[in-house]
Amino acid sequence: TRHLLGIKDLTPDDIELIMATAKEFKEVINRPIKKVPSLRDVTIANVFFENSTRTRLSFELAEKRLSADTINFSASGSSVKKGETLLDTVNNILAMKVDMIVMRHASPGAPHFLSKHIAANIVNAGDGTHEHPTQALLDSFSMREKLGGDLVGKKIAIIGDILHSRVALSNIFALRKQGAEVTLCGPSTLIPRYVNELGVKVSHNVKETLAWCDVANVLRIQLERQQIKYFPTLREYSLYFGINKKMLDELNKEIIVMHPGPINRGVELTSDAADSHHSIILDQVENGVAVRMAVLYLLAGQN
Ligand code: CP
Repeated sequence: TRHLLGIKDLTPDDIELIMATAKEFKEVINRPIKKVPSLRDVTIANVFFENSTRTRLSFELAEKRLSADTINFSASGSSVKKGETLLDTVNNILAMKVDMIVMRHASPGAPHFLSKHIAANIVNAGDGTHEHPTQALLDSFSMREKLGGDLVGKKIAIIGDILHSRVALSNIFALRKQGAEVTLCGPSTLIPRYVNELGVKVSHNVKETLAWCDVANVLRIQLERQQIKYFPTLREYSLYFGINKKMLDELNKEIIVMHPGPINRGVELTSDAADSHHSIILDQVENGVAVRMAVLYLLAGQN
């Protein structure tokens, strides 16, 4: 049984195949008839132990466009609240003849644990601070589309709370496997030490980083994951690392601004920057459906 647990496990060829398949599905879903029969008779459960807007809706729509049957589970309002375990929960869902599990969980490694105990395909829709593989794939797809080619030698900055970000780690793996140069930018308290082993550069100067990059992927300060009061405060963060439209307009080149959402408007990105012509934030969301169709289609085909 095949899974998509993280980008770390993918080869560059795997990524190319997903990008090419997603490109075809994007053409399909831009037609008047958006649906294809590829996953008819496949049943997929979207199992969310953590909140989500984009990822959950995007997976559900991708499944519907592929003609799969879908069921949705949210931990809140479920028997998890009565103490049912992760494995019992998923085994009960699988007993209803479900073929694939798309799971978001607050614990890093939760989908990896599950993959050792169940026979269904698993897609990781975000596991705590660890990985968010489909986000990184849709980010790469959106960068390629906007830049008009592959990412070899492209300069990509990931700016924000790297320490708590599964989007950052999956993006680092994906971008390095595609030959891009990566700089992480943020306060030293929000950049983990292990990044030294990942072939990336680190900067603490946002203006210099913007001047260097072709793409700025801006991340949210994840207050919900911070156990202790981190330095800097939100006010300090926005003062030293926040990005506004004036900063983008003053660069003597065009750069692409991205954000996985949800945005803390006025903290990491001002509204005038998020909503400017520099931003492809809603293109990322649009592309997410095609990329998730590609992932589900390719995994189902491996069975
Ligand atoms: N980008 C992302 O994962 O958003 P959600 O948390 O709303 O799914």
